[in-house]
Amino acid sequence: MKINQAALLALPALSSAFPGMGGVASKAETEKFIRRQYEAENLEKRQTLTTLTGTIAALASTVTGLLGSVASSVDPSNLRPERDFTYQAPASTDSRGPCPGLNLLANYNYLPRNGHVTFGQVINATSRGFNMGADLATVLLVFAILTDGDIATESFYLGSLNGVGGLNRHSTVEADVSPNREDYYLGCGDNHHVSSRLFAQNVGYAYLSSSKQFDLGTMGNQYAASASFSKKYNPYLYYFPFPQIVSLGAFAFYPNFFSNGTYGAGGVANYESISSIIGAKFIKSTGQFQYVPEQWPAYWYRRATPYGAVQALTDALVSIYPKNIIVPLASQAGTPNLSARDLLCDIYQGINSITPLGLAGALGATAEGVTWALSKLTPVIGAGTTLGCPLSTLSPNENTFFTNASSTGGPGKNPASSTAHTGNNVYNKVYFPVAPVVPTC
Ligand code: HEM
Repeated sequence: MKINQAALLALPALSSAFPGMGGVASKAETEKFIRRQYEAENLEKRQTLTTLTGTIAALASTVTGLLGSVASSVDPSNLRPERDFTYQAPASTDSRGPCPGLNLLANYNYLPRNGHVTFGQVINATSRGFNMGADLATVLLVFAILTDGDIATESFYLGSLNGVGGLNRHSTVEADVSPNREDYYLGCGDNHHVSSRLFAQNVGYAYLSSSKQFDLGTMGNQYAASASFSKKYNPYLYYFPFPQIVSLGAFAFYPNFFSNGTYGAGGVANYESISSIIGAKFIKSTGQFQYVPEQWPAYWYRRATPYGAVQALTDALVSIYPKNIIVPLASQAGTPNLSARDLLCDIYQGINSITPLGLAGALGATAEGVTWALSKLTPVIGAGTTLGCPLSTLSPNENTFFTNASSTGGPGKNPASSTAHTGNNVYNKVYFPVAPVVPTC
């Protein structure tokens, strides 16, 4: 395994986190030490992994009965894909990135197959394919276009354009502590391929749950384990408010959008649905998950009612976040006062602290970006709407959020090795068979 020397030297937390290391250790010694510690602490988990084949068989055997219950409670008009929307695996020139929902929609031509998408196309496709509420899609899109895309054409790439921008851009919308992707720093820039070891962990939590599903409880446990892992091994863990809510929301998206039928109203977040939609294919001979193009399973029904921004944040704050608090610089954190409205309004008010892609602080252009973003957000969450967020308060600036901004691995200075890993998704491969406790390049 190749380790980036500069990145290792930049690990400020190492000596305090691993006092056993003593004075100066070589790169190889350091890596070995961290891995040994990790493996000792995760013996139980590794034993679960050796029985993964049996675990999956047990999860899959619940499928037939559950599908029966879905079929009796769904409206046939919610069957997806609809006629004329056919699956086609992405070509190597098509842009795909960290979002399984959008990747899948492009694989069926609900979004352009080349993965270069516009605001209007995404609003329509996410509603039609998954019944995402327009308010939730708008909030996600504003940040995606502002920070990862092009305001003039209201467009962005699902992955990246020649390794730059797109949804792969770290800590804008893309976040650390993702359900089944590794952190940007520990993955050496690979924050967008499905991680085999993370999905194995997720399957383990589904198996241990009483529902045997990827429900909110299972996803809360997946979040808690990953949050602990990131706190311990990622010295550049960012929990800046917008990526933070995307990270938390994404855990709630698993059951709420990927269930067969409506989650909470007879729908099931079963292994068959989840593994197919996120593109995790179990390879029996290796015990690993290969990342394959995202696809709906046969006889899949989207949720019957829209799932919007307030529901998503409420699920995230009630079922996911309390399982392992990562404190952002939101004054309400850890108190009962942190509500969906507070976070949405913080974002609305804090939009000035975001640097749009390519604008790099040019005052006029930034102002133009902010004006554009607010013109989209005001009709859905501004004054006069149900949330009624005030415009007047400004959030702390980004230097406060990004305390390590200019250290190697921080948003101001990528590790040199990361460039090789920031391109569009490459499918039919296994990524991260073992946990990246040190940057895995
Ligand atoms: C509306 C526009 C959308 C944008 C701009 C967007 C963007 C993103 C981004 C940047 C990520 C990476 C976040 C991370 O690092 O954790 C992500 C992850 C995710 N998105 Fe989306 N998304 C959108 C719509 C959707 C829809 C419609 C769904 C579901 C149907 C969805 C489901 C997910 C899930 C489950 C993840 C977590 C993936 C994982 O780590 O396993 N997103 N999305």
